[in-house]
Amino acid sequence: VIDSLKRIFFTTLLRVDRIDYLKHKIMSDFYKKILDNNKEWVENALAKDPNFFAELAKGQTPPLLWIGCSDSRVPANEIIGAKPGEVFVHRNIANMVVHSDMNMLSVLDYAVNVLKVKHVIVCGHYGCGGVKAAMGNQSIGIIDNWIRHIKDVYRLHNQYLDSIEDETERFNAFVEINVKEQVFDLSKTSIVQSAWKNGQELSLHGWVYGLNSGFVTDLNVNFNSNVELDEVYQLKL
Ligand code: CO
Repeated sequence: VIDSLKRIFFTTLLRVDRIDYLKHKIMSDFYKKILDNNKEWVENALAKDPNFFAELAKGQTPPLLWIGCSDSRVPANEIIGAKPGEVFVHRNIANMVVHSDMNMLSVLDYAVNVLKVKHVIVCGHYGCGGVKAAMGNQSIGIIDNWIRHIKDVYRLHNQYLDSIEDETERFNAFVEINVKEQVFDLSKTSIVQSAWKNGQELSLHGWVYGLNSGFVTDLNVNFNSNVELDEVYQLKL
């Protein structure tokens, strides 16, 4: 009996080892590839401009802050053809501007007050998993508490959104409305209102990116002052 137990034990152990080995091999191929990619990228960049990294190391003056979704299919720099040094980036699930989020506030403060960016773009995207989750009732985990911010946007516009019968159309409309609300939320921050008060050139914009087309749509929510805000949000600075 002990012998057969031993046999079962060691065969199982070997099988687990084998699975781990295969998993590790798949992982390490990808992992190795990205390190090789980096070397190739450096070589190409230096071939085009030998001073490329030396210049970047001197400092950054990006004209734009990008607030986008963490979704791997919406890479900020790539879709707008921006080079390193041209975009300051903040990304989270469903491109939210949550006014008590220290991470977002710190990025915004640094972008506006130190880097003096001239534009802030909130870029959402159709097919956003975070927005989709906010339309449903499924509990996913701790993320539910983040998704709640998006649900609050739904509640604010539920009459309009509930009136759209087609689910895909409603989803697309919700994605757009969520971007607009995040732009409003940006304009309500003390950081943005202070910049405007001080005469700093700063425009806010809302975009939606089409995963299946690659094109961005400007939602025409462009702000450069707080006059359009509800009075209760206008800060006396
Ligand atoms: Co998304």
